[in-house]
Amino acid sequence: MRTLEKYVINGGAPLHGEVEISGAKNAAVAIIPAALLVDGVCRIENIPQISDTDMLLTILAELGAKVSFINRSTIEIDCSQARYQDAPYELMRKIRASYYLIGSMLGRFGSAKTTMPGGCNFGVRPIDQHIKGMTALGAEVDVRGGFVYADALGGRLHGARIYLDKVSVGATMNIMIAAVLASGRTIIENAAREPHIVDLANFLNSMGADVRGAGTDTIKVNGVDKLHGGTYTIIPDQIEAGTYMVAAAATGGEVLVKNVIPKHLECISAKLRETGTIVQEYEDSVLVKGASALRRVNIKTMPYPGFPTDMQPQMGALLCLARGTSVITEGIYDNRFKYVNELRKMGAEVQVDGRIAIIEGGHPLTGALVQACDLRAGAAMVIAGMVASGQTVVEDIHFIERGYENFVGKLQSLGADIEIVNFPEEPDGSEKILAIS
Ligand code: EPU
Repeated sequence: MRTLEKYVINGGAPLHGEVEISGAKNAAVAIIPAALLVDGVCRIENIPQISDTDMLLTILAELGAKVSFINRSTIEIDCSQARYQDAPYELMRKIRASYYLIGSMLGRFGSAKTTMPGGCNFGVRPIDQHIKGMTALGAEVDVRGGFVYADALGGRLHGARIYLDKVSVGATMNIMIAAVLASGRTIIENAAREPHIVDLANFLNSMGADVRGAGTDTIKVNGVDKLHGGTYTIIPDQIEAGTYMVAAAATGGEVLVKNVIPKHLECISAKLRETGTIVQEYEDSVLVKGASALRRVNIKTMPYPGFPTDMQPQMGALLCLARGTSVITEGIYDNRFKYVNELRKMGAEVQVDGRIAIIEGGHPLTGALVQACDLRAGAAMVIAGMVASGQTVVEDIHFIERGYENFVGKLQSLGADIEIVNFPEEPDGSEKILAIS
């Protein structure tokens, strides 16, 4: 009989202790495909062990890369024998970051064939700015039958000046990757400025690229003929850190979040302080102490250094506990409030109108059977489950495991009553519904 894994959470325990943050998912998922450009061995440290990175490493291996794990978080990738061939499209389809293979395959082979990217569903997520960038660099790009075909005219990309119509993390990084081995200079204007963009630039530069200005809205890439091997350490995950900070605040606990860059967390720390939560910054850690009563706040998500959309659902769960009306405005995606339906099952009072959610906080949450609609929505459900009375069961946890390394183990070490339980599937394929206390 098949089983389905779910999280079972008994709420009420405040989180206490220390938690170590892993490497940044959204840096790792760009750096792994970018390793295809390197003629030599890339040693990458602080790789998060999550399903998105596993899938990308499998895709690289299928393209002929030699991937070796040195230890839990350090890998060596040798792409010297990589060759242009069909990649495992079923895997590509599952992850958003497979779009970085367009840039890296174009840069390495002069041609790319990828699926249209998958990933979390927050409404329409076009890749027109990626295509605009590749086309400006001299590629002919065609989207048909669910695939993206790209070919560099003359076999090599050339530098270009590209103005992004939208501030896009993915398009900025993809164009950087493609431009590194192009002839001449590329200028990306209206570039995104997230910490993982700087991290990708630092990785590429440590392998011999010439990328300048990452972290500002104008990035210049002077093409080079070759990248060489080297060692690089990925930055800590801003969103994983923020999630534990919010979890500590929501449960009224006290948690030292370690191995972080506090500067990257400023937008999150500032909002938490507004709620009355105490946040103390140290050199590479932050201490979060929950308030006795949370205050309502308003939030608008924006590109970095604004408040990150990837922290919006977790803050949504927290604000259900703050007495009064909080307003969340989603500034990046059309449809990132699906999780609100799940919170309502727990007794939350939230109205959604398009990109705005109005939360009437202060109503007690009660345990329920809820879904992880996507990665961060799933994290929000776990936070809600940890403060709700009674038991919460979270389904579709594969979404959460795409982006949080050892989520359950880390929460357990902080005192949360959470475990992964295998629920049996009925012989007819339906799930057995277990009573939730
Ligand atoms: N957009 C376009 N055209 C494009 C690209 C983007 O219209 O060609 C729009 C998007 O629809 C969206 C906005 O521009 O409205 C910003 O999208 P962006 O390209 O910045 O997002 P992304 O590259 O698809 C990455 C992260 C997301 C994170 C966003 C914003 C990865 C693999 N994904 O997505 O991470 O929400 O940046 O910071 O890096 C997550 O980790 O939970 C996650 C969803």
